[in-house]
Amino acid sequence: MFLTLFKYNILIVIFMKIATILGTRPEIIKMAPIIDEISKRDINQIVLHTGQHYDEEMSDNFFKDLEIPVPDYNIHVGSGTHGKQTGLMMKGIEEVLLDEKPDIVLVQGDTNAVLAGALVASKLHIPIGHVEAGLRSFDMTMPEEVNRRAADVCSSMYFIPTEESAINLLAEGFSRKNLFITGNTVVDACFRHLKIAQKRGFEDESLKELNVENMENILTLTMHRAENVDDKTRVSNIIDALRQLSDMNIIFPIHPRTKNTLKKFGLFDELANLDHIHIVKPLGYLDFLLLTSKSTLILTDSGGLQEEAITLNVPALTLRYNTERPETVTAGGNILVGSNTQAILENANKILNDEKFAERMKNASNPYGQGNAAKLIVDAIEDYYENGLLNISAPEDIMSSFTRKMTQVDDDISVGEFELKENALVHMVFDGEKMLFPTDELNLNGMMIAYDKRE
Ligand code: UD1
Ligand code: UDP
Repeated sequence: MFLTLFKYNILIVIFMKIATILGTRPEIIKMAPIIDEISKRDINQIVLHTGQHYDEEMSDNFFKDLEIPVPDYNIHVGSGTHGKQTGLMMKGIEEVLLDEKPDIVLVQGDTNAVLAGALVASKLHIPIGHVEAGLRSFDMTMPEEVNRRAADVCSSMYFIPTEESAINLLAEGFSRKNLFITGNTVVDACFRHLKIAQKRGFEDESLKELNVENMENILTLTMHRAENVDDKTRVSNIIDALRQLSDMNIIFPIHPRTKNTLKKFGLFDELANLDHIHIVKPLGYLDFLLLTSKSTLILTDSGGLQEEAITLNVPALTLRYNTERPETVTAGGNILVGSNTQAILENANKILNDEKFAERMKNASNPYGQGNAAKLIVDAIEDYYENGLLNISAPEDIMSSFTRKMTQVDDDISVGEFELKENALVHMVFDGEKMLFPTDELNLNGMMIAYDKRE
């Protein structure tokens, strides 16, 4: 908040304005805690929905379940090719931003909304805060990898779930100064809403009809990644495994993309007719959280669900060959099985039959924080605003020369002290083979560092 004293002694209070751009189910879920946190403070906010997801069960229901207001704008882009969808989003977002002139734009994750929002805002010189920045699958065939990398290039503030993701950004040469390790807002949403869901119970009619409340051996399945569901061989291999997992009650809230492609490939009816597989419509957030928390196993290609599984202590098998959430695998709560029938079956059966193995997966520690990410994010934005750090303008100082160096440090000196003493910015710190995030307090004695030095 800024207080401005105009002539005639009129006190004008200027509040910061934050614009949040979202467009799909996971963005609504992960931005909800931030929207809620902003609404508790003296900050103006607008929420812009691109309309990429538009079915009630992919969009509107989440605003209700997560108790956040309907968006101020919806530009209704709908479905389409990447170019058309992103182009239409850019046009609509630009009109709103020109009109609203926010102090910062927030985008979340790696969808086309993130790409469109980041490109438009950066050209308008509006700072961008990228929520869930720094994730990398290193697979450029994924549209999401292109989107998240492009958004990171355009951003001014990076809200990063884990140290590993922060290191990805450092390794790409991003300055450590604007990186904030906050945890993931999915944990905030999960902790808050699981309690509400447990109190309320299942409301979805299909789940009630199936008596999921008293069901055992639940396997919750979700899949929607283009590289799986648009590929007949991959999806057939996955279905082959599902057919053989007949000891499980497989609950499959089906994503509209997946429903379309399974029908196109002529696989939908066969799957729907299997007794142990229950295909249901996409579920609301509360029903879905309750379902996953009661599950013995999660089989998914979703990004958010890999995070929720480890948050809810449910073993996950991920139907992908790589993941931008490697922390879940390292921690032991998630195993990558690709679309390989044997790998899915072997690991699923191990979780079902080897109690020790299943316990180890359940007890994997959650790398995504304590559930206070939204607070940390909004604190950091307020701090930047109050210190004038959200103003983007063309530089007026003639650039001083700087050199990029590597050196071994043999003194008891922290990163902050080193930077002050050398007029330098430390980018990377290696402790032997291990790369560390250079916090101000980190002692550099014995470490190899890379830094920029202003001359
Ligand atoms: C998008 C995101 C993906 C994210 C996912 C979350 C991109 C590039 N992809 O993928 O990163 O993980 O959302 O679920 O941004 N459809 C409907 N109703 C809807 C929405 C979609 O029927 O409300 C159908 C349409 O046929 C559409 C298809 O689903 O063509 C795919 O939708 P789209 O938004 O393009 O991609 P997602 O697969 O949902
Ligand atoms: N989800 C939901 N209902 C469902 C399936 C998923 O509420 O029927 C939630 C889930 O809890 C998670 C998010 O949707 O938070 C994940 O969205 P999705 O898998 O579509 O996208 P991704 O995370 O892969 O981008």
